Amino acid sequence: MKIQSLRGMPDFFPDDLKKWHILEEKLSQAFDAFNIQEIRTPLLESTELFNRSVGNSSDIVNKELYSFLDRNEESISLRPEGSASVIRAIIQKKQEHEKHKLWYQGPMFRYERPQKGRFRQFHQAGVEYLGYEEGLSEYEVIALVLKINEQLGISNYTLKINHLGDERAKENFCKALKLFFEPHLASLDEKDVSRLNGNPLRVLDSKEDSTQRLLKNAPNFEDFISDKSKSLVRDIAQHYSDKCHIKIDPTLVRGLDYYTGLVFEVVSEELGAQDAFLGGGRYDHLSKELGGKNIHAIGFAIGLERIIELMKIKECNSKLKVALIIVDEQDHQKTYKIAHDLRQVNMEITLDAFLSNASLKSQLRRANNSHCNFAIIIGSQERDSDQFIWKDLSENGYQKTLGLKELVTLYKNL
Ligand code: HAM
Repeated sequence: MKIQSLRGMPDFFPDDLKKWHILEEKLSQAFDAFNIQEIRTPLLESTELFNRSVGNSSDIVNKELYSFLDRNEESISLRPEGSASVIRAIIQKKQEHEKHKLWYQGPMFRYERPQKGRFRQFHQAGVEYLGYEEGLSEYEVIALVLKINEQLGISNYTLKINHLGDERAKENFCKALKLFFEPHLASLDEKDVSRLNGNPLRVLDSKEDSTQRLLKNAPNFEDFISDKSKSLVRDIAQHYSDKCHIKIDPTLVRGLDYYTGLVFEVVSEELGAQDAFLGGGRYDHLSKELGGKNIHAIGFAIGLERIIELMKIKECNSKLKVALIIVDEQDHQKTYKIAHDLRQVNMEITLDAFLSNASLKSQLRRANNSHCNFAIIIGSQERDSDQFIWKDLSENGYQKTLGLKELVTLYKNL
């Protein structure tokens, strides 16, 4: 029986990766433009880290964590997201008092039901601003989100924003919500009961009609939130209203427990059911939950599999590609020497040494199929005279015969 990959964990082949490389380059340019530095954290962390950050009541921890005991009987998990690890790393390095602008990128793991746009291994690029109080950093982070979309040619999207209040507002509202639902517990869906017990805010985005009907008479989150918080969301919405389609959405609560303050998501109808390709918000209390000092924190993560679907950038591989074709097996030693010399003088060019014994005709066909611009050919005649054929593979088909020195000079100046 042939072994298959695990469900929801796709392979990426060279043709798929061309677009990924463009995406990664554009993202890194955007991060650079905002002076954000890269951080890398491990794929495996202690399960406790995610219990205490993403939250016991979240679907991510409850149902989707890839957790297992290692050889030392310790519970470890594949990371489902990046923010918790970044905060853990900063606490561990005792850098809680410094300001940081960090980005990361890599695979995340969630045991979800695979479907279009939803995978069990997926990739995120995330940004975390640490040490920045509520205010200017909200604007800066949203500006970065818009810049990234612009860089990638994405214009058909909605930026949804909401404010979850400060810790006290969130706590008071959750208490009021629990009290309101108490007489209705028997009629509530099991999932909503567990949300109510874990993070009552998540009841607001319940998919159950009966819960949504009850919510119409429930306490209003807005009544618990300070005027300062409300005006921040309104001001952000107004500030960016001429740059993108921005909407205040009071039901936006996000699926991770650590948020307070501004939360946001970017959605596009072009993606179908899994329409969110970016999500984030403020999470000032996470560091304390993890045993660290207080760290003001705001950030977001982009779902790369989703954003790549929306990217309207043409693939442009402007690098020249040269095929090195040797017709006779006895010239292979020579190939290594020439390839070495050429790569030494110009690393900007892709030199594809074919390492083949196939006929000249079939190697030229291969060069055309793999979009080479030029070919260097050594046949028996050239071997005897220590020369090479330089062939232009574009329509003009121009070719000339050269000595090694001339070839190296030509290659250097391409
Ligand atoms: P999140 O909303 O859970 O936030 O994930 C961010 C993005 O990752 C989503 O908007 C979505 O595009 C993508 N994503 C999530 N799950 C999947 C999946 N199973 N398959 C494909 N794509 C997926 C976070 O992870 C937070 N850590 C973001 C953050 C950073 N907040 C503050 N800083």
